[in-house]
Amino acid sequence: MFPYSRRFLSSCLNARSTRSIRELLQIKEVPVSPIEVKGWIKSFRALKKVSFIDLYDGTTNETLKVVIPITACPEVQGKPSLKTGQSVVIKNAHWKWTPNREQSFELSCSRDDVEILGEVGGDFPLQKKYVSLKQLRKWPLWKHRTTYLASLLRFRSYIETELTKILSNESFFKVQPPILTGSDCEGGGELFYVESNDSRITPGASKMKYFGQDTYLTVSTQLHLEVLALAMRNVWTLSPCFRAEKSDTNRHLSEFWMLEAEMCFVDDVRVLTQFVEDIIKNLVRSLLLQQNQLLPQLVPEEGADATEEVIKQWNSLINDKWTTITYTEAIELLVQRHSGEPFNHIPRWGNALQAEHEKWLSGTKFGGPVFVIDYPKDCKAFYMKVNSDNKTVACFDLLVPDMGEVVGGSVREDDYRRLIAEMEARKMNIQELYWYTELRKHGSVPHSGFGLGMERLVSWLYGNHNIRDAVPFHRAARSTIHL
Ligand code: 4AD
Ligand code: MG
Repeated sequence: MFPYSRRFLSSCLNARSTRSIRELLQIKEVPVSPIEVKGWIKSFRALKKVSFIDLYDGTTNETLKVVIPITACPEVQGKPSLKTGQSVVIKNAHWKWTPNREQSFELSCSRDDVEILGEVGGDFPLQKKYVSLKQLRKWPLWKHRTTYLASLLRFRSYIETELTKILSNESFFKVQPPILTGSDCEGGGELFYVESNDSRITPGASKMKYFGQDTYLTVSTQLHLEVLALAMRNVWTLSPCFRAEKSDTNRHLSEFWMLEAEMCFVDDVRVLTQFVEDIIKNLVRSLLLQQNQLLPQLVPEEGADATEEVIKQWNSLINDKWTTITYTEAIELLVQRHSGEPFNHIPRWGNALQAEHEKWLSGTKFGGPVFVIDYPKDCKAFYMKVNSDNKTVACFDLLVPDMGEVVGGSVREDDYRRLIAEMEARKMNIQELYWYTELRKHGSVPHSGFGLGMERLVSWLYGNHNIRDAVPFHRAARSTIHL
C-alpha cells in the first residue's frame, strides 16, 4: 500500500504552489473563490466587450479559458498587451459553474489581476499558426511548448510508469547495469569509444587508457543483466544505449533508451513472445482507460496519425491475437511477393530482413504486430541459443506497421562449451568476455530476455512516425548537437 494519500500529497504541493491546470480541470468541488492560476498564454483574443486567455502550464493537453470582461477592467489602458508565449500569474480569478459548456466552470478576472511574469520577444518562434514537425525539430529549445510534443513526452512518461508497474506485478526487479563497458554486446561494431579528456589534451598521455583498456558506451546492457538475472531470477532496466549508427532514418538514433528484461528458467522462444505480447497488451489497456487524458486532438499531418486512427489501432492491438511466423516462412512470403512486385532488396534465406521487408510483413501482409522467430544464426548475435536444426537460433523480432522492429530477444546459450565454440567460430576475443562465459560454469540455468526500443514503442503507439520526436533532445548521425 502506498503510505500517502493523493489528497495529502497534493495539499503538500499546494502549500508551495498554486493548483496546476490539470488539477483545476478535474475539480469536482467548488473551490474557495477567488483563486490563483499560473501558466503560459497559448492564445489571447480581445473582442469588443470581452477578452479571452487560453492558458496552459504543461500538465495537461487542455487549456484553461479565462475571461476578462472589459467592463471589469476600465484601467486596461496603459497596460502591456497580452501575447502568446508570455508567462503570467492570474490572481483573484472568480469561479462560476457552467455545466453545459465545454469547460464546466468559468474563470473571470480583471486585466489588473493578470501579472506578466516573463515577457516574450518579437522573435519568439511559436505563434498561433501551424508549424510542421520537421520545422519543430529544428527548435529544440521551444518545441516542447507545443501541445503535440508536450503531450508526446507526457505520453512517454505515462508509458514508463505503467511498464514499471506491469513488470513489478510480474515479479521483476529493476536494476542498474553500467553504461561504460568493455565489450560490444551485439558484435555490430557500432560503438562509441570513451576516453578521458586528459588523454586528448596532455602530450604523451594518449597511450594511457583511463580504464587501462578500451572502453565504450554500452550498445545494450543485456550481458550485465544476465549476471543479475542469475542472482535475482527476473530483472529489467530502462537505460540509454548508444550506437554509432550509419543509418540516418526516422527509426534510428545514436542515443536511445532500451527497456531490457532478462528472466531465468525460460527456454522457449514462444513463452518469451507471449510474455512480450502480454505486457504490451496490458500497457495498451491502460492507455485506453486514460485516452482522454493522454491524447490531444491529433491533427493528421505528414508523420502523425489522427486521434481516431490511434484509438482504432489500440483497440485492434488488444482484441486480436498477434501473428507469429518463422523466419523461413517470412522469406517464403517475401519471395512470393517479390516475384510479382519486386522489393529493392531481394529477399533470400540467410540474409537479414530489410526495413522494407519488415514493413511489408507487418503493414501490408498481416496489418498488425508480427513476431518473426528462428532467424538464421549468422544473422544474429553470438549469445543466442542454437536450435536443433543447427542453422537457426531461438530468437524473435517483433515487427509493427510503419516502424518495423520494436523488440528483439532470444533464449540465451547457457552451455559453456557451446558458447565458447560459437565465439571461436566467430573469431571473437574470448578473453574480453571472460566474465560472461564464466557465468556458464557456476549454477548456469536456461534463461531468456529481450530489448524494447522505448522511442520506437512510444512513436508507434502515439501514431507518430519519427522517433526523433519521442526523445526530448535527439542525437542522430550528422545532426549537430547544439542543445
Ligand atoms: O535488436 P537489438 O539490437 O537487441 C539488443 O540489443 C539485445 N541485446 C536486446 C536484448 O535482448 N536485451 O535492439 C533492441 C531494440 C530494437 O528492437 C529497437 O527497438 C531498438 O532496440 N533499437 C534502436 N532504437 C533506436 N535507435 C537505434 N539505433 C536502435 N537500435 C536498436
Ligand atoms: Mg534486433
